[in-house]
Amino acid sequence: MTNEQYYELIVPYQDALNLLMARLDVLNHSIYSTDVPKPIHNIQFRIKKKQSIENKLERKGMNGSFTAAKENLRDIAGIRVICYFVRDVEQLVDNLRGQRDLIVIQERNYIQDPKSNGYRSYHIILGIPVYYMERTEYYPVEVQIRTISMDFWASMEHRVCYKQERRDKQEIQAMLKQYAELLGEMEKGFERLNSEELEKSASGTG
Ligand code: GTP
Ligand code: MG
Repeated sequence: MTNEQYYELIVPYQDALNLLMARLDVLNHSIYSTDVPKPIHNIQFRIKKKQSIENKLERKGMNGSFTAAKENLRDIAGIRVICYFVRDVEQLVDNLRGQRDLIVIQERNYIQDPKSNGYRSYHIILGIPVYYMERTEYYPVEVQIRTISMDFWASMEHRVCYKQERRDKQEIQAMLKQYAELLGEMEKGFERLNSEELEKSASGTG
């Protein structure tokens, strides 16, 4: 793929990403009533670099052409939504799923079923309709929705070993899994504190 082809390829993915970002922004300020804090802590997004597109296609045993990328990759556009609580993640997923003009291409609930290494996150690939002058096309955006503690774990795990071969593998695996469990416990602790706080303010004693 030439640089020119790459820039031509990513235009509609960037459009789809922008459209979805706007919807997330709307959900963030409207999902709860105005006196409840917003569900989203922060959002990260990226368009896959030319080199990573080509590397991924190569790993899949395909040539790195424009067409191969368009037909085989669904994570050219990616958004990561970091929430405070698991409840926020669920609310966002339900709301996105309820937006009838979006297509759910794939869903993976690694919160309900964590990966064996301890990884947790909600993954949903959405098809976003992009309306151009003479045609409408759906473009996929990969959305990863997770809590702050899930993001902390995933970022550290990625930093120390994602897709790397390590000699001290077993030891690291056990450690990561233990940390995932500890973070899960802490997260529940904060959830309890939060619901107590909400109850207090609801009963007017807070
Ligand atoms: P990819 O080929 O990497 O796209 O994986 P996949 O198609 O099997 O999809 P999956 O939903 O498992 O993972 C998609 C993305 O989630 C990855 O590109 C990472 O950003 C993230 N992810 C998945 N598993 C892990 C993990 O074990 N650790 C970390 N840090 N991130 C992960
Ligand atoms: Mg992927």
